[in-house]
Amino acid sequence: IAAESGSLDRFAFDEIVHGVDTTHHVAEGHDAEVLIRWGDPLFADAPELDPLNQSADAQERQFGYNNDYVGFVPLDGNPDHGLLVVNHEYTNEELMFPGLPGPLDEHDFTGLTREMVEIEQAAHGLSVVEVQRRGGKWQYLKDSRYNRRITPRSTEMAISGPAAGDALLKTSADPSGKKVIGTLNNCAGGTTPWGTVLSCEENIHYYFMGDPAGHPNAALLERYGIPAMGYAWGRYDDRFDIAKEPFESNRFGWVVEIDPRDPTSMPIKRTALGRFKHEAAANVVSGDGRLVVYMGDDQRFDYLYKFVTRDPVDTASPANNRDLLDHGTLYVARFNADGGVTWLPLVHGQGPLTAENGFASQAEVLIKARLAGDALGATPMDRPEDVEANPETGRVYVMLTNNTERTAGQVDAANPRADNTFGHIVEVVTEGGDHTASRDRWEILVKCGDPSRAEVGALWNPATSENGWFAAPDNCAIDHRGRLWVATDQGSNWATTGTADGVWALETQGERRGTGKMFFRVPLGAEMCGPCFSPDDGALFVAVQHPAADGTEAYAGRKGRPSTFEDPATRWPDFQDGMPPRPSLVVITRRGGGAIG
Ligand code: FEO
Ligand code: CA
Ligand code: CA
Ligand code: CA
Repeated sequence: IAAESGSLDRFAFDEIVHGVDTTHHVAEGHDAEVLIRWGDPLFADAPELDPLNQSADAQERQFGYNNDYVGFVPLDGNPDHGLLVVNHEYTNEELMFPGLPGPLDEHDFTGLTREMVEIEQAAHGLSVVEVQRRGGKWQYLKDSRYNRRITPRSTEMAISGPAAGDALLKTSADPSGKKVIGTLNNCAGGTTPWGTVLSCEENIHYYFMGDPAGHPNAALLERYGIPAMGYAWGRYDDRFDIAKEPFESNRFGWVVEIDPRDPTSMPIKRTALGRFKHEAAANVVSGDGRLVVYMGDDQRFDYLYKFVTRDPVDTASPANNRDLLDHGTLYVARFNADGGVTWLPLVHGQGPLTAENGFASQAEVLIKARLAGDALGATPMDRPEDVEANPETGRVYVMLTNNTERTAGQVDAANPRADNTFGHIVEVVTEGGDHTASRDRWEILVKCGDPSRAEVGALWNPATSENGWFAAPDNCAIDHRGRLWVATDQGSNWATTGTADGVWALETQGERRGTGKMFFRVPLGAEMCGPCFSPDDGALFVAVQHPAADGTEAYAGRKGRPSTFEDPATRWPDFQDGMPPRPSLVVITRRGGGAIG
């Protein structure tokens, strides 16, 4: 493991300043251009977005809404040419459709028609899109044979691994328990060494409605927050009504593997990786050749997991990794006060994971992974979001975005702040880069928030400027030089911190460890997702999610008005009358060429 030169700033760019306005900003010497927007056609015969004449069939052929994870899969070894695989996490009806009064309260579906619900379903899922740098400029290729939409409305998926076919996964439409239509609320993810993408199903509870009384698995429903009734889908589509289809919800909350290089391939839900509100699937090949996937369960007081494959990755013959993710061991983390991490295996029959305790089989351990984590005594964390592993140093970065519900009595060493509004980053330190071990160490890298306000209790390297600190770390990436970049999601809290979300560089080693530096800023009401580097760091793809959505009634001149389709706080990125704000991918390049930052 190479030692770093401790005193040098590993990031050469001049940082931008905190602030909030209607457009995006990037550090001097870089360009940040919109690459593809919600509604852009992915096929030669697909229509352009027509916001007043949308249809579900058109949306199925267009880039989806609320881009989150971005993966880059090279096609031919050229770092300027590849496939982007993009998650479309959720939809904001009041910004997509005319005539809605503002953000709808949960359980309030006033004005939502069947056609709107179908458009929403078609706007969820993923897009695969070929991109190439031509004449210095990145563009997406509308007529690429690789382009694909995957949606919860129309894409058939297989269910594989130990839980496939279990009684708890069977429905009237699928008596096999091995086939499901679609994927939901795909948030962060990961890319495997063999070029497939792992997409994480996160807040699946929002999509289900119905009366839970008399449900055969009431405790399971409750632990997963189902039904949350955040969407009207169950009104028009029986499988999202738990009273009509009691086990459909068990078929979501998984990690889905997608092969973007084969547009006819069937996505596969890999049950060996457990069922929870998945966020992140950080891939790292351990010293013995086995793959380790680190995963968060993003909810207040939920857990960090890792999956270790049984077999090594076959780097010579990628096709031999087809079933690699069906065999292995899932672990959940306990963070000990002495600085140790204990990884507790979710294995049926071991410890408390027995039939007497409600786990009849390994399938049930996986379907009820949260309950298994509870039984094993895992450490409740402050919302584990994205995770990345640095293959050079063996260190793993865990974004803990916030937890305002943690009380003083619930504070522990790894979650050290009560009412944790601003979040923190924990490092898991492996011994010699062995990611398969059952014991590691942990350290806190930063405690986020404004270091000039003592009551915040922030922890940064003092070299951090007044623009270098951030709040609510959510997504992250490690570039090909081993440097960490963090993207934030403060929700409406930008009005407190005084800055919109963005991307910050964060030093992890040497004397400057814990120093942040602001690189990119999103427009008002958006959060920052992605980020993803091209193979030579010549491009950084960032996903601007839900522009104009979060907390915009607090913005100067809004006078308390929330954003709507007709009256959004920003019309980024088109700034055209009548065109609503559009979640979009932005590609950042260095002016004159070369690596980012
Ligand atoms: Fe979808 Fe946890 O962010
Ligand atoms: Ca996230
Ligand atoms: Ca990431
Ligand atoms: Ca987020």
